[in-house]
Amino acid sequence: MPDKRTPRVRRNREYDPFADLYNRFWGTEYRSCALPVVERLLLSRLKPGQSVLDVCCGTGQFSKVLLGQGFAVAGIDGSSQMIRHAKRNAKGGRFVTADVRDFNLTEKFHAAFCVFESLNHIPDAEGLELAFRAVRRHLKPKAPFLFDLIGPATYRRNWNTTHAIVADDLVCGIRMDFEESTGTATCDVTVMEHPPAWQRRDFTVRQHCHDQSDVVAALEAAGFRDPTLFSARDMSMPTSFGTDRTFYLVTA
Ligand SMILES: C[S@@+](CC[C@H](N)C(=O)[O-])C[C@H]1O[C@@H](n2cnc3c(N)ncnc32)[C@H](O)[C@@H]1O
Repeated sequence: MPDKRTPRVRRNREYDPFADLYNRFWGTEYRSCALPVVERLLLSRLKPGQSVLDVCCGTGQFSKVLLGQGFAVAGIDGSSQMIRHAKRNAKGGRFVTADVRDFNLTEKFHAAFCVFESLNHIPDAEGLELAFRAVRRHLKPKAPFLFDLIGPATYRRNWNTTHAIVADDLVCGIRMDFEESTGTATCDVTVMEHPPAWQRRDFTVRQHCHDQSDVVAALEAAGFRDPTLFSARDMSMPTSFGTDRTFYLVTA
């Protein structure tokens, strides 16, 4: 008999080697573009002081703002290193390292959200369903859940390219590749850091392009109701983030 406490999934720790870079160079830019959408579609439905679960909270960029707005915030993320930053950035929140497909905070929230395409990191439809089930278990009846996913046009536009970050103390090369046939997107990162010795490290972060029909089927299988889809472009997000990004609003 399997031990009931044995996790059904292997925790996604891919962001551990990315965490310091993410905290320094990413996160806040997306937040400033997406926060108005989260406020309009989700937070406007809540009362001050109600509880919100930040799913795949990363370095706590959104949690920080919500705490400042008076909400009670908890966050989960698969990366202990991202959670380490979240605890520093968003003082007053409760942060737990856990995989979105298999977590238990023994609390039910008034709302949940999961943004910056975090669920594109789930590699398959089964995983999406597990994630939706886990989130729904943490919501009060009829509570809203908002998340975003990017689609093929954004992968074709943004994930077949290279970038570099050059700072005094580091150089970071980013090579992104989207394989249309499998829907797999790969981001290979090389960092040179710690001058004057300049040490090199390499890591990879992967995403998956989910079909909208699979997403809706997984939501229904997990018991979520009334899916309403919003195009980020219609919500006035800039092209850099909004080319093919869909916000899904559902009810527990
Ligand atoms: C692009 S970041 C977004 C972070 C945050 N939501 C934000 O807006 O800044 C994606 C986050 O999803 C987390 N993540 C990816 N797969 C996960 C999983 N299976 N379970 C929990 N967290 C996961 C990563 O660790 C990372 O922190």
